[in-house]
Amino acid sequence: MLTLARTSALRSVRALSVRANAGLHTLPDLPYAYNALEPYISAEIMTLHHTKHHAAYVAGLNAAEASYSALSTSPSSPPSSPTAAIKSQIALQAALKFNGGGHINHSLFWANLAPPSPSTSASALTGKLGEAVERDFGGVEEMKKVFNQRTAGVQGSGWGWLGWSKETGKLEVVTTANQDPLLSHTPIIGIDIWEHAFYLQYKNVKPDYLNAIWNVVNFAEAERRFVEATKA
Ligand SMILES: [Fe+2]
Repeated sequence: MLTLARTSALRSVRALSVRANAGLHTLPDLPYAYNALEPYISAEIMTLHHTKHHAAYVAGLNAAEASYSALSTSPSSPPSSPTAAIKSQIALQAALKFNGGGHINHSLFWANLAPPSPSTSASALTGKLGEAVERDFGGVEEMKKVFNQRTAGVQGSGWGWLGWSKETGKLEVVTTANQDPLLSHTPIIGIDIWEHAFYLQYKNVKPDYLNAIWNVVNFAEAERRFVEATKA
């Protein structure tokens, strides 16, 4: 089961990379069925989240990149002056950040999750990640508590992260706003705290959503990311 989960996650990430290099981003398949995370995350949420929200970020990213590219290769077409073209390119950067971040974050998020199995049990944290969680937080339950408190405190929309800081050499819990990607740390576990991720099932009770989602966090994938981030 651990191998299957890891293989699926790797396939998703590899597909994202290949498609990005081709210049046309596409919605990656989920490595499990829409109802596979029930009862913790409903099939309705997963379906809408993947086919509507993530798909919209992909479409927005492709549109922004196409507009940006057109301004770079056809400076004589409207806008008519080089200065106007530069201004237009700058104006597009917000769309690139929002939609590009949304695509990156959600691609990480799907691989972060898995149907309830040995790989989603905290007891799976027996490797290097488990050692680091013990060292930096005092244990898995303590890490979850810090994570949930800080992530529930995100005002508006955003993400909670368990990230690896190369600078401090530690695991740290950090948050990002909107669809900002995590740049200060290597993402190990990321949880979407936008209302579209939980409202249909948990209404406005963020702590209930955050407590539930740990039942479907793919610790095997988290371990793989941690080993990759910390290897010399
Ligand atoms: Fe989302």
